[in-house]
Amino acid sequence: MATSESRRSFMGVAFGTVAAVGGVFSLVAMKKTWDPLPSVKAAGFTTVDLSGMQAGELRTIEWRKKPIFILKKDASMAKDPKRDIVVDNAAYTVVIGLCTHLGCIPAYHPSEQIFKCACHGGEFDTSGKNIFGPPPRPLDIPPFKIEGTKLVLGEEGPEYKKMTKEA
Ligand code: FES
Repeated sequence: MATSESRRSFMGVAFGTVAAVGGVFSLVAMKKTWDPLPSVKAAGFTTVDLSGMQAGELRTIEWRKKPIFILKKDASMAKDPKRDIVVDNAAYTVVIGLCTHLGCIPAYHPSEQIFKCACHGGEFDTSGKNIFGPPPRPLDIPPFKIEGTKLVLGEEGPEYKKMTKEA
């Protein structure tokens, strides 16, 4: 009797241990499944070095499959303390290049210093603010962080947090 009981308790402990180990492996496997792949993590951030940009230059890059307009303002463009990103004493407009009306991609017209949306005639100024037509609000500013002369898109740095708090 005693032998059968100790055997049963041994079997209970053995099964319990196997189940616990199996559970731990399952949790590790589940976590691996939930975690984004390294390529996805890397794709979430885009670093742009602004140091080579000329005043008045517009650069369009892709971030998370969206166009991002980076405009280095020149002396003729109005400054906007609430929306300008200041790097190395120069003001930049950094916006998601999708019209806030229905999502078309506006084109920049340097001679007029405006972004024009061909879909319904919406217009935005060099700070990305809607100035004409149906767009209901300025172009959106993507989350960003400043690292020296580099702009890291996809991370909420203190400048971005301050900007969104004031908006
Ligand atoms: S989508 Fe740009 S004005 Fe309509």
